Amino acid sequence: MKKQFLQVPFQIGNCTLPNNIFYAPLAGCSDFPFRKMSAQYSKKYRPGLIFCEMVKMDALVRNDPVTFHMLDFDKEMHPIAAQLCGSKPSLAGPCAKIIESLGFDTVDLNCGCPVDKVTKDGSGSGLLKNPSLIGEIICNMVAAVKIPVTLKIRAGWDETQIVGKELTIIAEQAGACAICIHGRTRKQGYKGPANWDYIKECKEVAKSIKIIGNGDVTDGPSAARMFEYTGCDAVLVARATLGRPWIGEEIIHHLLNEEIVEEGPKQLHQALIEHFMYTQGYHNPKRVSLDMRRVGCWYFKKSSGTRHFRDAISRASSLHEVESIISDFSLENFTVDPNEKKAEEACQDEC
Ligand SMILES: Cc1cc2nc3c(=O)[nH]c(=O)nc-3n(C[C@H](O)[C@H](O)[C@H](O)COP(=O)(O)O)c2cc1C
Repeated sequence: MKKQFLQVPFQIGNCTLPNNIFYAPLAGCSDFPFRKMSAQYSKKYRPGLIFCEMVKMDALVRNDPVTFHMLDFDKEMHPIAAQLCGSKPSLAGPCAKIIESLGFDTVDLNCGCPVDKVTKDGSGSGLLKNPSLIGEIICNMVAAVKIPVTLKIRAGWDETQIVGKELTIIAEQAGACAICIHGRTRKQGYKGPANWDYIKECKEVAKSIKIIGNGDVTDGPSAARMFEYTGCDAVLVARATLGRPWIGEEIIHHLLNEEIVEEGPKQLHQALIEHFMYTQGYHNPKRVSLDMRRVGCWYFKKSSGTRHFRDAISRASSLHEVESIISDFSLENFTVDPNEKKAEEACQDEC
């Protein structure tokens, strides 16, 4: 029964993906080192698609080097998706073309970012107030590229303005191959449970467009419930990927009724060391010590006995300090507890 949820391979437009379990765009988190870990830690089953952090259309067309740096990837990370944030139809085609020329497998339009400075010019979830503009932007992207065009939306601006179904129809008519629905409204931010009814409704009106369910998928059982309840074609995992680059593989094992071996303290520590190494290879020293405050916390979010470590790393101010905190970390009193809530909550504050 569960096996039917997993699709191996999975088709989006002309792109054949290894499966239908995707890793989400996470601004400030799904950077090159994160994606390197995600690709590397998928020993048997890799994620079906790995997203980069969103990039702004305006910055892309003015050749902003920081933006191009964010889009760096290596061949292990394929299939890889880029996500554009912007609301100007005239930039949408040229930007999608840049993404295609960089070698990305798919290109996505962000219609979900809730941050005020993004929505104030009508971008991100600001687009939810203007469904026909989304149609126009998607049309221009589709006309400009051969790679599949997708979009990621929230269910609506608030619970009185739910637009998922309308946008599914508009996006399909505009030529999008898939639409990802985050079952929260803009007003909700990241609080409260995602409402999967909003995703189910989109699946009911979709003809050929693929529906990607997102919100509160944290492990194999919740992924299976998302497929079962909404009928979605694929799932997108977001916060649960932080510090668990192997989560996609875990979900696939569950869907295949295969045994899941939980990562122990040693493996978590080793993964953190590797993440630190990739971060050093990619960012400048100041950025590395800042990022490691959060990254260190991610890896121990489901662990007891790590409070001292988390306190220390979240205050570290130099690369040298980060290095010694990580290498001095003692595994002695440390246990992995999947139900440990306190550490997980502390970690959520960090991102
Ligand atoms: C720190 C952070 C950064 C995010 N950045 C993006 C982004 O760049 N683009 C996007 O479409 N969604 C972004 N999201 C939303 C997630 O992709 C996802 O839709 C949301 O977290 C719900 O999924 P979850 O319940 O599995 O975490 C971000 C979320 C968080 C917590």
